[in-house]
Amino acid sequence: MRITVLGASAGGGFPQWNCNCRNCAGLRAGTVRAKPRTQSSIFVQPDDSADGVLFNASPDILEQIRANPALQPGRALRDTAIAGVVLIDGQIDHATGLFMLRERGSALPLWCTDAVADDLTQGNPILRVLGHFCGVQRHAIELDGRAFSVPGVAGLSFRAMPLSSKAAPYSPHRDDPAPGDNIGVTITDQRSGRSVFYAPGLGVMTPAVFDAMASADAVMVDGTFWTDDEMIALGLSSKHAREIGHLPQSGEGGMIEWMAKLPKHTRRLLIHINNTNPILDEDSEQRAVLTRAGIELCEDGMRIKP
Ligand code: MLT
Ligand code: MN
Ligand code: ZN
Repeated sequence: MRITVLGASAGGGFPQWNCNCRNCAGLRAGTVRAKPRTQSSIFVQPDDSADGVLFNASPDILEQIRANPALQPGRALRDTAIAGVVLIDGQIDHATGLFMLRERGSALPLWCTDAVADDLTQGNPILRVLGHFCGVQRHAIELDGRAFSVPGVAGLSFRAMPLSSKAAPYSPHRDDPAPGDNIGVTITDQRSGRSVFYAPGLGVMTPAVFDAMASADAVMVDGTFWTDDEMIALGLSSKHAREIGHLPQSGEGGMIEWMAKLPKHTRRLLIHINNTNPILDEDSEQRAVLTRAGIELCEDGMRIKP
């Protein structure tokens, strides 16, 4: 299988349009060595030239398609390599790009949990609005560990697990988390047997989640914040990382500690990195800590062949 990182940033992107934090201002001014990143999405194909699955539809999707011509083949007057879309949650950064796919010639095949489908028909009724355009052919993602496949994408299978994270602010149950608000997905190449665990929003590590990570050849997991109080310390929010569903990298019980317990051969990648995170600065001490720990940062355009 081949995975293309379309966007490695969390909501807001990097730099964020209205942000003058050290990273955003430094990137604009050229005083911080870092790479810009668009919002959270990956494209997964069985091989280089095949149609694939879009994981999350970010507000930056049109720019991401332009930057990755493999997504826009020329086999017909109107064409796309996106055989289907899988949503990890119903947040703005993962779902609003669906509007940009409205010119599709047939209903958009979409996989999401019931909790996300509810949020996207009630709190933020994207799926209802799309009914006035191409329409959506929605498939339910079950949380019992059963595998699903996406027609037109041969040889790949997908298995979801519920994660403790957070529903979107417009969710009718924002403060009453439901299983399926956020999922992690194990993507398996049935020919090679190789697999990736993808979870851009992961708030709490549990034995089941760690087991899914340890069973995969590569993990692409929540890289949003370095510290639990990152947004509070900058005066940008009153909420801790864990409260909004993101396990920080540093500190006790943080992602670095967990990744150190993975089997030696597991490839460790962080994705969904917030623009405030010091790891984006390639010369930062925090980035050096990750490098020493064998942890990579996803970048837009990066290709991963697990
Ligand atoms: C999150 O995962 O918390 C989001 O990136 C929030 C957002 O997109 O607004
Ligand atoms: Mn997000
Ligand atoms: Zn910023």
